Amino acid sequence: MPLSTSAERNSFAQDLFTPLPARYDRLAEILSFGQNGRWRRAMIDRIVCAPGKTVLDVASGTAGVAIQLARRTDAGVVGVDLTEQMLRHGKAKVAAAGLAGRIALVAGRAEQLPFPDASFDALTFTYLLRYVDDPQATLAELARVVKPGGRVASLEFCVPPSRFWHSAWWLYTRLLLPLGGLATGGREWLVVGRFLGPNISAHYRKYPVSWTSAAWREAGFTDVGVELMSLGGGLIMWGTKSGG
Ligand SMILES: C[S@@+](CC[C@H](N)C(=O)[O-])C[C@H]1O[C@@H](n2cnc3c(N)ncnc32)[C@H](O)[C@@H]1O
Repeated sequence: MPLSTSAERNSFAQDLFTPLPARYDRLAEILSFGQNGRWRRAMIDRIVCAPGKTVLDVASGTAGVAIQLARRTDAGVVGVDLTEQMLRHGKAKVAAAGLAGRIALVAGRAEQLPFPDASFDALTFTYLLRYVDDPQATLAELARVVKPGGRVASLEFCVPPSRFWHSAWWLYTRLLLPLGGLATGGREWLVVGRFLGPNISAHYRKYPVSWTSAAWREAGFTDVGVELMSLGGGLIMWGTKSGG
């Protein structure tokens, strides 16, 4: 059944992610051939934030990006995510990293963030737009909470543009990813492995990269940049909230 409302999308994402946190960090690395960490670092490279400032990390999950932001920028970090179990695991990681004074994790939806306008100096979001019903409206909501002149950066999976690498990616996502997921993480990861490839393909059929960069501008970001990573398997985007 196609998911047609925001609430259906949210409960689909919660059902998908609720069983995953215990193995999420290790398997995200293994199943991306170690690319996830490199992509995250490249995204954070795009964030400029001085000490004493605050960054919002949306779809923060188990806080992997939030922890890197805290270590690399000296800023305070707030992570927001829909799935309570991902956040609970993230809070334990933040405490173990000795960063509880620098990172706060809170429950919330990207579509309706629980913060006033212009609350944050910078913002990141990772693997989010495929889970929302209206990416354009969600981008506008993300823009709402960033101060004018604030930097925003995102990381998403993508589809390799070259025919050859697209075929290799297709085989990987349709065959190896589900089997690798089953072998390393059991049934829940088989479900994720089977879901990801078709979901990524369908998302970019509906919202190609060119559409997405236009949507960033429409949402109120300037100097929008795009970088395909690992032959197109990953997509980093960045921009600056207009009016600074
Ligand atoms: C693939 S995980 C990524 C977690 C983290 N950003 C990382 O890179 O490790 C995607 C996260 O998006 C969250 N999510 C999905 N839809 C969301 C929404 N509408 N608002 C906030 N979080 C959402 C899920 O709960 C999940 O934790």
